[in-house]
Amino acid sequence: MTASATAPRDFSRERDRHNLTVNNGSEHHRMEPARRANCKQGAPMSRDETRIYNKNKFKLGLFGMNCRGGLSLTKAPERWDASWDNNVKAAQLADEAGLEFLLPIGRWHGYQGESDTQGTTFETIAWACGLLASTHDITTFGTLHVAFVNPVFAAKQMVTADHIGHGRFGLNVVSGWNPIEFGMMGVPLGDHDGRYDYAEEWLNIVNRVWSEDQPFDFDGHYYKLKAVLGKPKPWWDSRPILVSAGNSETGRDFAARNADCLFTTVPPTDEDLRGKLKYFRDAAPPGQLRNIFASCHLMVRRTRKEAEDYHHYIVHEQGDWEAADYAFKLRGSRINTWLKADEDKLKARLISGAGFPCIGSYDDAVETFKRLSSAGLDGLALGMINYVSDFPHIRDELLPRMERAGLREPLHHAATAAE
Ligand SMILES: Cc1cc2nc3c(=O)[nH]c(=O)nc-3n(C[C@H](O)[C@H](O)[C@H](O)COP(=O)(O)O)c2cc1C
Repeated sequence: MTASATAPRDFSRERDRHNLTVNNGSEHHRMEPARRANCKQGAPMSRDETRIYNKNKFKLGLFGMNCRGGLSLTKAPERWDASWDNNVKAAQLADEAGLEFLLPIGRWHGYQGESDTQGTTFETIAWACGLLASTHDITTFGTLHVAFVNPVFAAKQMVTADHIGHGRFGLNVVSGWNPIEFGMMGVPLGDHDGRYDYAEEWLNIVNRVWSEDQPFDFDGHYYKLKAVLGKPKPWWDSRPILVSAGNSETGRDFAARNADCLFTTVPPTDEDLRGKLKYFRDAAPPGQLRNIFASCHLMVRRTRKEAEDYHHYIVHEQGDWEAADYAFKLRGSRINTWLKADEDKLKARLISGAGFPCIGSYDDAVETFKRLSSAGLDGLALGMINYVSDFPHIRDELLPRMERAGLREPLHHAATAAE
C-alpha cells in the first residue's frame, strides 16, 4: 500500500449533495409516506433523533458481546457465553434500560488458551441485523475490517441493516492491525498509514453507493469499478453513523475527515484525557465529531471491597495466563506505550479486560463517570464478565445514581415501550 493517494473529502458538500439526492430522489420520495406510516408515535423522524444523539451528557453502550468471553481473558465459569440467545437478551436489556448503543468487535482470530476469548464470534453486520430486528431504539453498530470486504457489497449489507433498524445502524470502520487476521484472509497487512489510505478509498465508494442515484465508474488506487449503483438508499435522508477508533495521527485525521463519532482509550490522567480529546476535536471541522467515547471494562459491586475481591478472583484465581501470554506477544508493545507497566502487570490488565478498568463500588463508578465527563468524554462502551447477569448492576444501581448526578435523564418509556 502506498502513501495517501486520495484527497480529503469535503463532507459538508457531500452531505449537501446527499440530502439533495434524497430529497429529490424519486424512490426516497415515494418511500417516505410508507416509512412515516410504519413509525410509532414518538418514533424518530431523522437520524439526529435516534437514541445515540439524545441529550444524555454521559452515554453508555455495551461493547464486545458478540465475542465469547467479551473483553476479559478469564476462565471463570460465569464468563460470557456469546450465544445468539444471550446476545438478544443483553441487547433487549440495554434497549429497555435506555442505553445508547451496542458495539461489536470485529475479530477473526481469538486469544487462545483455555478461555479462547474472542475465538468464537458472530460476524458483526449479520449480528447487527438480528439485534436491530429484536430491539426498538438502541443504535447498533457493525464493525468491519474494510480490507476484508468489497465496498459495493458492504454498502448494500449496511443499507439492509439500516432498513431493518429503521435508521439505527452505524459502522465502526476498522483498518486493522492483527497480522494473523490478515494472513487468514490472504490480504497483505501493509503499512499502517497505507491501511488508512485504503480505508478512505473504500469509504468513498460506500458513500457514493449510498448517495448517488445514477450508475458511476470509479477509478481509484485500489478499486477500478464500472457502473456502480446501489438501491435502496439508507433509511433516513443521511448516511448511517460512521465511527472510527484510531489513536495515531493518521487515525485522527481519518476520523476528522470521515467520522461522526469516535472511540478511544482512556489515558492515565485527566489532563492527558483532556489533551487527547482536544487533539481529536481540533482536527475535525466544528460540530462534526458529535461524540467521543472510550472503551471500559466494568466490575462494580455494592462496596469497593466486594468489587476488588471479584476482580482478584477473575484475574488471579481464574485468569487465563496462557491467553494473556499470547495477547501480550500480539499486543503488548501497543498497550505498553502508554501503560508502561511491567510484564506481569500488563498481563493482569489484559486478563481483567480491554479498555479502561472501572472496578469499585457503584458510587466509585459514578464518581469516575463524572470525572471523565468533566474532562470532556461523552460516554463509555462497556464490557463486563457477563452482559446479562451483570446488567442489573448498571440498570438498578448505576443509572439511578447517574440521573441523580446529572449525567443522564430518566428514560421516557413512551419512546421504547414494546406496545
Ligand atoms: C473502542 C475500540 C474498539 C475497537 N474495535 C476494534 C475491532 O473491533 N477490531 C479491530 O481489529 N480493532 C478494533 N479497534 C482498534 C482500532 O480500530 C485501531 O486499529 C486501533 O485503535 C489503532 O489505531 P491507530 O493505529 O490509528 O492508533 C478498536 C479500538 C477501540 C478503542
